[in-house]
Amino acid sequence: MYLFENYSRLPVSFVKGEGPYLYDDKGKRYLDFISGIGVTVLGHSHPALTKAICDQAQKLIHVSNLYENPWQEELAQKLVSHFGSEGKVFFCNSGAEANETAIKLVRKYFRMKGEDRYRIIVLENAFHGRTYGSLSATPRKAFHEGFGPMLDGFDVAQPNTSSVESKITNETAAVMLEVIQGEGGVKVMDPSFLADLGQLLKERGILLIVDEVQTGVGRTGRFFASHHWSLDPDVITLAKGLGGGVPIGCVIAKEEIAKAMVPGSHGSTFGGNALACKAGLVVIEEVEKLLDRVREIGDYFKERLREISAGEVRGMGLMVGVETGRECGELVFKALENGLLINCTQKTVLRFLPPLIIGKDHVDECIDVLKRIL
Ligand SMILES: Cc1ncc(COP(=O)(O)O)c(C=O)c1O
Repeated sequence: MYLFENYSRLPVSFVKGEGPYLYDDKGKRYLDFISGIGVTVLGHSHPALTKAICDQAQKLIHVSNLYENPWQEELAQKLVSHFGSEGKVFFCNSGAEANETAIKLVRKYFRMKGEDRYRIIVLENAFHGRTYGSLSATPRKAFHEGFGPMLDGFDVAQPNTSSVESKITNETAAVMLEVIQGEGGVKVMDPSFLADLGQLLKERGILLIVDEVQTGVGRTGRFFASHHWSLDPDVITLAKGLGGGVPIGCVIAKEEIAKAMVPGSHGSTFGGNALACKAGLVVIEEVEKLLDRVREIGDYFKERLREISAGEVRGMGLMVGVETGRECGELVFKALENGLLINCTQKTVLRFLPPLIIGKDHVDECIDVLKRIL
């Protein structure tokens, strides 16, 4: 009654969670195969995460970025160790903010070098967030409607090398992409496109920003999904799973690029506070142990989905989509009635983003419900 009506919410209120299960206010149990849209990677009430949050809250939650922040340093070091290049990290609170920062960063980097490159090539069907920069980088008419004008400086290409090449001008600063388009219907980029693109961008001195807000933090069975293709991103953005439910996002950039953000150039009041960073540290420690298992369970899940579905089953690790060929909102509702939480994207694609802790038994439980409702 008192809320903006921008969300179409399902008629259920959850009051507690444990592992991959949620419980509503009537005590009914649900298998959570959407994880708050790819956020609660360790499931609910994970003992180590809960303890770290409680311990930190008893000491200190927030001091701002006016002061030294050892929690950020520790978490940044961990993230850079996965990045594969010398890098630096900026912390914020969400995926849109991380992408906003990445857009500002690449513009600033080229201006610092005295080059007037500011344009960013994005891919058709991409989703990068809802703030003006990230929304302008999201080429979806429906999301722009009524909010124009968008930020200038984005060129839209199809996900193939010749299309990207045709959009390159002397003003192109970067290409920004998701290696698996999540909101776009769990669409995995063609490996040969990614290999050629990496080469092309290096030749032209254009930066590569990989938006790993949905694919990062172990979701696909590697810490960063770009590692499946040996991509060498200049900038990676993360959020969602990083705090396991505590809001935190970040941008990881190669050192030389990160240096463009000089004191006073950019900031965030909440970004990387002690509580969020502590959560991030536990999440990374736990996710590192789960990566092999995510790939194994993900393969099993896809195999089982193929047994029951005629439509294409796509994705990697525990980021999985099924093309149903029909409007699937009703299926999501039926799944809910049957105690299973899933999601529909691009109208016809059922999307599954379960917590990374699930086992084959949870997959079987999900398949049993799907069999019943499909
Ligand atoms: C790839 C990608 N980028 C950015 C975002 C925006 O993240 P947030 O909702 O945290 O702003 C999302 C959210 O779904 C996403 O999937």
